[in-house]
Amino acid sequence: MKTIDELLAEGVAGKRVFVRADLNVPLDGTTITDDGRIRAVQPTIARLAEAGARVIVASHLGRPKGAPDPAFSLAPAAARLGELLGAEVAFATDTVGDSARAVVSELADGQVAVVENLRFNAGETSKDDAERGAFADQLAELADLYVGDGFGAVHRKHASVFDLPARLPHAAGGLIATEVGVLRKLTDDVRRPYAVVLGGAKVSDKLGVIDHLLGKADRILIGGGMAYTFLKAKGYEIGTSLLQEDQIPAVQEYLKRAEETGVEFVLPVDVSVAEEFPDLKTKAPAESAVVAADAIPAGRMGLDIGPETGRLYASKLADARTVFWNGPMGVFEHPDYAEGTRAVAQALVDSTGFSVVGGGDSAAAVRTLGFDEKAFGHISTGGGASLEYLEGKTLPGLAALED
Ligand code: 3PG
Repeated sequence: MKTIDELLAEGVAGKRVFVRADLNVPLDGTTITDDGRIRAVQPTIARLAEAGARVIVASHLGRPKGAPDPAFSLAPAAARLGELLGAEVAFATDTVGDSARAVVSELADGQVAVVENLRFNAGETSKDDAERGAFADQLAELADLYVGDGFGAVHRKHASVFDLPARLPHAAGGLIATEVGVLRKLTDDVRRPYAVVLGGAKVSDKLGVIDHLLGKADRILIGGGMAYTFLKAKGYEIGTSLLQEDQIPAVQEYLKRAEETGVEFVLPVDVSVAEEFPDLKTKAPAESAVVAADAIPAGRMGLDIGPETGRLYASKLADARTVFWNGPMGVFEHPDYAEGTRAVAQALVDSTGFSVVGGGDSAAAVRTLGFDEKAFGHISTGGGASLEYLEGKTLPGLAALED
């Protein structure tokens, strides 16, 4: 994989460099609620611009349906990138159309432009190789060189991630190099005890990684919405908590395998419950009660791990020499259900081991709850991408940069 240092050493002045970033940031209307992904890729863009490249930044945002949709515009992200760079950033209102071509042709050496959401074009995410290829051909016309630095999207076989690098001389950006370097520490020669904390809503998103980790991790701690399917699989009543009934057999199989292989599989011992899901817009105080995990009353849903579980998980992380955490422990966006996630984040901060926070919601949670990012070994920008890396899968966006 060619590095950005090698590319810069060859010289990029006057060259149009297409940077595939992941600017898929959470928005409240047009307000960015967590700009971590923009800050993470900014150094790559700055280095290219300082070296005199004409930088074209492209990304997806959200999941629009292959056509323009103002709710998913990259304009707020482009504005934030300009603030971080301390420079004017041009914005094209389309991706490969008249606006993009005009904006790119007007770029001077050292200037940066952002083109509109790649997913406004159906070719970006198409399963049809020819359709994706046709879109990649159009993207290739905009640039002379390609830098892949959208780590959060490298698990997607999309035109800008997978097909475009085959059409242009390419290199990996600094963010991808850092992310891969860190994840290698978790796969190649992990320091033990190795503890993994998994949360988030759906068990189905985590099956692959649990399957893989059963042969690698020493402890697996489960929280978030997915924990209730585990509790149900153990035969507990879970009231109206989130349940993926069809996953129960798989979960039972994992619990059995964990017992056989000596992996410590830890489930919540208490949970915070309420009658209704809280209002995340008003964040109005919500009713909540802590109950034992095997005594969730009918008509109540679990919305966070309880304080006893928080302490238990902290004790399981205290002596770990490596920790990987993906997925919040509860509805952290509401202050009444953020304590479990806070407890895990605090345990990572207190631990002297190497801690990796895996992307998406857990990274946003750490920042939203006011933790200092430097207190963690690494905060990944990739949620799905880091999980698939740990599963040992070939990631299309990394494979495309290899050759
Ligand atoms: C993410 O948020 O995990 C990445 O930006 C990828 O987004 P996607 O899941 O919509 O492909």
